[in-house]
Formats: sequence, structure tokens, C-alpha cells
Amino acid sequence: MTVNGTTRLCGLIGNPICHTMSPLIHNHLKEKLGINTIYTPFLVEKENLKTAVEGAHALNILGMNVTVPYKSSVIPFLEEIDPMADGIGAVNTLVRTQQGYKGYNTDMTGLCRAMQAEGIRLDGEEIIILGAGGAARAVAYMCLFYKASKIYLLNRTLSKANEVAQELNLKFERQAIFPLGLDEYGNIPVKKYLVIQATSIGLHPHQKQCVIHDSAFYELAHTGYDLIYNPEITQFMKKIEGAGGVSYNGLGMLLFQAVDAFELWNEVEVSDEVAMETYEVLKNEIKKV
Ligand code: ATR
Repeated sequence: MTVNGTTRLCGLIGNPICHTMSPLIHNHLKEKLGINTIYTPFLVEKENLKTAVEGAHALNILGMNVTVPYKSSVIPFLEEIDPMADGIGAVNTLVRTQQGYKGYNTDMTGLCRAMQAEGIRLDGEEIIILGAGGAARAVAYMCLFYKASKIYLLNRTLSKANEVAQELNLKFERQAIFPLGLDEYGNIPVKKYLVIQATSIGLHPHQKQCVIHDSAFYELAHTGYDLIYNPEITQFMKKIEGAGGVSYNGLGMLLFQAVDAFELWNEVEVSDEVAMETYEVLKNEIKKV
């Protein structure tokens, strides 16, 4: 597609950003949908964040993604924030409005959509989440937002799991989250759960590691969802499958956070067919890394 007088720009701000897969996804989507935009990464230094957001608006930039380390620190510079992103306290997608940008968290709507695409539901579900860091907290928030009935939140540092549980139980006005240490899964009633792995354990190049080793734990899972996508099959996923469960990596989340952002910026719907084709492109590219 040629760049002309009506081409609009979208971008990604973060630091570092050189390993991002987002340009691949967005530039593929705009080709498939015939949309006249370009997506490019912008390396932004911490002290320039406010200027970068204001400058992007002044330059009529259509939308921005935001990555590490700015997902929370960018919020004060936004005009508006979506309620779920506000509750999570982190945004990864900025959508242009008249006065500034509105922030969304498509990491979480994208995770939900990726799970839905696999037939995984959250409404009324009992879920086990591993971790209590920023990612796990966002996942717990998202699960409650989409009406999960109960969450067991397991973390190495129990005090952090307690904090997240206390905060979100208060926010959602019900005792929905039960915090536990990593070795306390014996306290979880024996039945089958969706288990979401939201720690950084098992990420390349430490692919032999997993957050819980004991195979008895994995008997609790009907499905395991790892937020990690590199390696393609994590140790967590192997253990889930070993115990008879179905497992997924985080590549679907990576895809759908971009699809959700693309749809918000361009006011279009990406079909399942185009999404799946983009997924294959992404999968092949990641294999080369
Ligand atoms: P993120 O924003 O990606 O969630 P984070 O906030 O630093 O990153 O959280 C990392 C998560 O991985 C935490 O749940 C952390 O457990 P602690 O709260 O006990 O630190 C977990 N984690 C990191 N290294 C770990 C390890 N070696 N064993 C078990 N859990 C670990």
C-alpha cells in the first residue's frame, strides 16, 4: 500500500521496543483490511512521556500502543480512561479523541477474547491464578469483571497475594479471591479449574522452569493458560497436558490485544478468518526469533 495524503499513523511507545511483534501484526491487519495506516515503534525516554503523548495528539496520530515501562505512568496524561483499564490501573492502547487520548487495556480484553476463541469461559467459573504481580492482578481483575465466581490466587510471596485479594474483594464488593502460598494448593477443593499462569517463570531462556513442580497440582486443571508464548510449549503447559488437561500459550493474547486495538482505532471488525491468518503469520515469525 502506498503512503499518500490520507495515510494515518499508529505507533507503539515503550522502552525498550526493538523486540516488538506489534508492527508485524498491525501492518498485516491493515493490508488484509485495506486500511490506509502505518504502524511504527517509538522509543520514548521516561522524561519525555508526557511530551510524547501530547505530541502524538498534535501530530494527529490515530492511536498508540503503550508497553513496558509506561502502562501505568501514562495514565495521568490521558483525557479519558475505560472503566476496566481504570480498575486494572494499566493501559496498553490509546484511542484518539477530540481533546486527547482515551486509554484501554486490550491486553485483558484480548486475553478474554483469545480464551473465548478456544471456548474457554469466565462467567461463573472457578479459576486458579499463579502469581500476584502486575500481570496476575490484571488477570484477576479481568476475570472478576467478566463474572468469574471464585479465584484462588497462588503466589510465592503470600503477602502480595493477600494484598491483591484484599484490594479486589473490596473493589468488587464480594469475597471472590482466596490468597494462598504456592505450596498451599492442597487447600483448594478437589475439582477441575481453569488455571492461568501469570508469573514470568518459564520464559525463554529459562524454559525448563515452572512455578509449581508437583504434578499433583496439575490434576486440578481442566485447562491451563500460560501468558508466556516463548517458548511455544512451556513447562507449565507440559505439566497440564501430562495431567490430562488442555493447554494454551499466550500467543492468542498477543494477537487479540492487537486486534482489539486495531478495531478501536479503525472502527472496523476483524473477522475470525483474518485473525486466524494473522495468528499463523505471527507464529511463524516467532519461530525465527
Ligand atoms: P509482572 O508485571 O510481569 O506480573 P511482577 O509484578 O514482577 O511482573 O510479578 C512477577 C510474578 O512472578 C510475581 O508473582 C512473582 O512472585 P513474588 O511476588 O513472590 O515475587 C513471580 N515470580 C518471579 N520469580 C519467581 C520465582 N523464582 N518463583 C516463584 N514466583 C516467582
